Amino acid sequence: MMFLQGQHVLSIEQFSLEQVRALFETAQKLEDVAAGKVTTRLLNGAILANLFFEASTRTRMSFHSAFSRLGGDISDTTGFSFSSISKGESLADTARVIAEYADVIVMRHPEQGSVAEFAKYSKTPVINGGDGAGEHPTQALLDLYTIRREFHKTGREVSNTTIAMTGDLKNGRTVHSLSKLLSLFDNMTFHFVSPNALPMLPSIVEKLQDAGHTVKFFTNPAKGIQGADVIYCTRIQQERLADSELQGSSDLFNIDKALIESNAKADAIILHPLPRDAREGAFDLCTDLDDDPRLKIFTQAANGIPVRMALFVHCLGLENEVGKDFQPAPWAKVK
Ligand code: CP
Repeated sequence: MMFLQGQHVLSIEQFSLEQVRALFETAQKLEDVAAGKVTTRLLNGAILANLFFEASTRTRMSFHSAFSRLGGDISDTTGFSFSSISKGESLADTARVIAEYADVIVMRHPEQGSVAEFAKYSKTPVINGGDGAGEHPTQALLDLYTIRREFHKTGREVSNTTIAMTGDLKNGRTVHSLSKLLSLFDNMTFHFVSPNALPMLPSIVEKLQDAGHTVKFFTNPAKGIQGADVIYCTRIQQERLADSELQGSSDLFNIDKALIESNAKADAIILHPLPRDAREGAFDLCTDLDDDPRLKIFTQAANGIPVRMALFVHCLGLENEVGKDFQPAPWAKVK
């Protein structure tokens, strides 16, 4: 199915379920390329501009790996200080210039709406790698890809299941995008589990309810994760909070082994977009769960590569070319 060719990827709301399924079919075909078992030169000669004006490990590097594995080259910039934006250049001028240098652009920026603003001036497809507290559409796609793959191992489908989202649901762009994406399925139940100061956005709650889904709110994580098929944990987005915003909050919580062992379903899967906040006193998913087989956070991060490869392939109109030049990777045996 041809779609996305020459288009920007700015919001998860631009995708239909049919398109998501087609994208995942392409991602599935690229699994061995993503894993370095097979090589392709599909994007030979193409250039990705990878622009990260806010900190990133997974999104920046997995987009880079995805494009490299497809045979393309990458031109990148990280942080404002290495871009002429620091000399006062506008997003519009930056977009007009970089559009001439690349065949596809990935951009992360700390301000909500900034990637869409940039894209208005780019004739080259722009993929949103995260815009402030706004959206993270490619994270939602890889989250859903992970959920589907893990569910299929136990014969489950996504519709008619319960997802508990925990942590900072107000400022976390991943939960915003994933909620909207899951709303495409039938009869979902959402448990929004957050401190009182960090609730899910009312606009998203309304959208889910209007689509016929069940939405429940919890401040107690033990109650919130009960019955959940997916427990999607997030960190407190300290970089988006004023110093005083959580002062006096007594309802911050961790998701730890004791909580999961007492309350989670045996076949639940535990996800987190990462990074986990491992600092002393942070409230997040705890490392004492690392040996729990329900924890799929590193599989989830690895799934970013085939999903992002598929996005490049569709943006560049190459979905019918996938697989035609696959060769076994000569280095695969040593991995
Ligand atoms: N999940 C995610 O966006 O991680 P990074 O901030 O490291 O890119």
